Amino acid sequence: MDKIFLHDVLAGLNASPKTLPCKYFYDRRGSELFEKICACDDYYVTRTEMALLQEIAPQLGALLDANTALIEPGAGGLKKVSILLQAAKQLPLYAPLDISGDFLHEAAANIARHFPNLQTQAIVGDFTKQIDIDALLLAYPHITHRLIFFPGSTFGNFDPIQGQEFLQNMRHLIGNKGGMIIGVDAVKPVHILERAYDDSEGVTAAFNKNLLKRINDELGGDFNLSNFKHRAVFNQQHSRIEMHLDSMQAQNVPIGEQTIAFDAGESIHTENSYKYDVPHFTNIAGQAGFTIKQYWQDSKQYFTIFHLMV
Ligand code: AVI
Repeated sequence: MDKIFLHDVLAGLNASPKTLPCKYFYDRRGSELFEKICACDDYYVTRTEMALLQEIAPQLGALLDANTALIEPGAGGLKKVSILLQAAKQLPLYAPLDISGDFLHEAAANIARHFPNLQTQAIVGDFTKQIDIDALLLAYPHITHRLIFFPGSTFGNFDPIQGQEFLQNMRHLIGNKGGMIIGVDAVKPVHILERAYDDSEGVTAAFNKNLLKRINDELGGDFNLSNFKHRAVFNQQHSRIEMHLDSMQAQNVPIGEQTIAFDAGESIHTENSYKYDVPHFTNIAGQAGFTIKQYWQDSKQYFTIFHLMV
């Protein structure tokens, strides 16, 4: 049994209001469901960012010259980075960075298969902490610039303090020369946001509830999934979509040796997805030591890709 998972679950469910960390969504089933969310009509995020990346690929490719290393924290998906790599014929090095070694080496091998002329260098590290790659890049003396790629609006799943820390860590990782290409979901009409996180096919609801199934399967929990209802709501004050699982009745749920009591209507807050307009994100990036060199948006201004410079 994963003791850290158990500890985090019990800490969250004994807190008031109840919470569960969104990082636990992504077991095998959760990752499959997330892939399905990305293909849902209602979830505009992935297809909007992909189309925008395609549109600006020549400009991004020009940033990836023969003196630059492309670093991707939390690497995994081949689709988005491939758009950049296809446009970057001179790029000498791609370095995916992840805390999970297995996953990371798989991602690196995958890229190496598709782009045989590109060198890949996996970096095992926790991007929520400061990472130093100077020693690692000693083998590549011609590389003077580091460009970090962080698509997917994953930045939105950090709270503002974590977001600031993440950008500061990236600032440290870049060192003297380079920058960041980061995808950030924009503020938009509430009905579009809420539909995206409560899609008509019920995939996001299944994704949210899968967290309870994981607790049942891995931690000896006894959640009855049909006693909980998925809810997504836009919190204007914090500019974030919140996902919740609402208890539809008063109930007691055993988890291992503990029992968690729920009132009727009580919620478990499972995820925040912050939405940023350009001035707000510019301000946060500025506080972490970046300036905005350029940004691009789709025609509906649903999504922004920023080029940050140190
Ligand atoms: C991974 N992340 C950017 C997604 C988001 O939009 O915040 C996670 C997600 N949660 C529900 N739908 C998608």
